[in-house]
Amino acid sequence: MMLPMANPTHHNYEEYMTLWEEHGIETSTRSKRQSLRKSKSRQVPSPKIKSLEDIRTWLGECKRCGLCEERNKIVFGSGNSNAKLMFIGEGPGAEEDKTGFPFVGRAGTLLTKIIEAMGFTREDVYIANIVKCRPPGNRVPAPEEIESCVPFLKAQIEMIQPKMIVALGLTAASTLTGNDSTMGLLRGRFHPLAWDSKRSLMATYHPAYLLRNPAAKKIVWEDMKLVVKQLKGH
Ligand code: URA
Repeated sequence: MMLPMANPTHHNYEEYMTLWEEHGIETSTRSKRQSLRKSKSRQVPSPKIKSLEDIRTWLGECKRCGLCEERNKIVFGSGNSNAKLMFIGEGPGAEEDKTGFPFVGRAGTLLTKIIEAMGFTREDVYIANIVKCRPPGNRVPAPEEIESCVPFLKAQIEMIQPKMIVALGLTAASTLTGNDSTMGLLRGRFHPLAWDSKRSLMATYHPAYLLRNPAAKKIVWEDMKLVVKQLKGH
């Protein structure tokens, strides 16, 4: 079944909840939802979706966009379900598509080093992507692919409730902030999440970019130091 498209830049909450309902997932009543939105409290549909596993079940053997045709494995996301820190990349590459886990290829090895330099392990954080299936040839995911996949990522963020999100690369940064600026302008600053202004996001360069441009590692490290400092304040 195709789910209606949620617009990742507008992040219309009503539309998003309707999407859950149309998929047979019970949510709070509309008036309750409105007060939820006003109070900006936790926007997790209740009572059926209670865990990341429930979101994975909802995703199922997804065929909501064309990426399903060439994928081998859905890369749902992995790590600590109570993580304070979440990293979000663009989409699975070849290794991730083979294994079903995010950031396990060369870029993943570099991401692991970044995480460890920040004083964490991969088990401390949660790692996911904007799209959960590999775009053929590692192309940038198309807007309609992002639209059909992002509700699941939103649900994951709302379930995990991280203190901080790091957007790796421009696809993640622009999708999550709704800001179409360049990475040069987005990086190094905290941004509110497009649909939840109380949640903070740092944009920085993607590890795959760092493999091609090692000089930018210094810049990413500056950004990650800001993230660690902010997390220590919590
Ligand atoms: N690049 C990404 O953006 N995500 C992965 O999981 C792997 C490589």
